[in-house]
Amino acid sequence: MRHFLDTQDFTKAELQTLMELTALLKAADKERALPRLLVGASLGMIFEEPSTRTRISFEVAMTKLGGHALYLKPGEIHLGVRESIQDTSRVISRMVDAIEARTLKHATVLELAANATVPVLNGLTDYNHPTQVLCDIFTIQERLPEGKRLEDVRLTFMGDATNVCSSLLLICSKMGMHFTQCAPKRYQLSPALQDMATFNCLVSGGTFKVIDDPAKGVSDADFVYTDLWWWVGQEAEIPDRTAAFMPRYQVNDDLLARAPPHTKFMHCLPASRGVEVTDAVMDGPRSIIYDQAENRLHTEKAILVGFIDPHLKRPSQALKDSHSQKIGRFLVETALPGAGGPR
Ligand code: CP
Repeated sequence: MRHFLDTQDFTKAELQTLMELTALLKAADKERALPRLLVGASLGMIFEEPSTRTRISFEVAMTKLGGHALYLKPGEIHLGVRESIQDTSRVISRMVDAIEARTLKHATVLELAANATVPVLNGLTDYNHPTQVLCDIFTIQERLPEGKRLEDVRLTFMGDATNVCSSLLLICSKMGMHFTQCAPKRYQLSPALQDMATFNCLVSGGTFKVIDDPAKGVSDADFVYTDLWWWVGQEAEIPDRTAAFMPRYQVNDDLLARAPPHTKFMHCLPASRGVEVTDAVMDGPRSIIYDQAENRLHTEKAILVGFIDPHLKRPSQALKDSHSQKIGRFLVETALPGAGGPR
């Protein structure tokens, strides 16, 4: 059983296939002509943290494809409390066709996957956010600067080595792109992640660098990307983080004035307006943040089709007719308990 847990588990060609499928599904959906490829399929969606984009995109994608999604939030299911993660995973697997999970700890999604008999799709952990970055690369492909291929693209990430930053490093280096993180030393990508990216670059021809000079970082960037400077649970670090990042690493008009005229601005959202990015940039002409957010819906469709469709049974019409007749006969000939007697 293959899961979608980490872009590192896939080749460049496989990730390209998902993006090609995304383009086909998006085009069909835009014309309200999306094939209902997942009729009768169900997706269990486990969320240990709140979500706007991930939750809505997966749920709407399932509905549009003819399937159904269940939102399972903490306190509504047993997950490591009153029941082991192993048992929960095995039980949910018997009832749905795939599990999407946003978990506080990456180990939890790995444990779900190790015990699931259906595909598990990672909707963000403390380590990575693979569905987000697949969407980001798809968005970049739609917005390639004139005359550039994906392999020519320079993406600069401004700020903390968040799970999104880490995932961008890995997918960019896998796709043969050119990635830069700009952050103070303390908030730079770990040596372990950089080792993985070095290996990816050897295969793909991509490059990456980790620097602390924002002006240098944006000077040749095609895309400038940022993310929150702190997340839930890091509130005690807010003063230190603000001192480290503000104002030097804020994406504002002054910083973008140092970038080429064609440079676009990206953010995975949610954003703290006025903190890591200004309103002027968020709402300005370089911003592609809402196209990026919408593309979560289209990439989720491709991930759902890519991982659920191969496992769906395709019964012949004769088999469906045979079951329908058997059940129909039974219903006609049998006094069902709810009817209180024969029909
Ligand atoms: N970017 C992202 O994952 O957004 P949500 O937290 O709203 O799902």
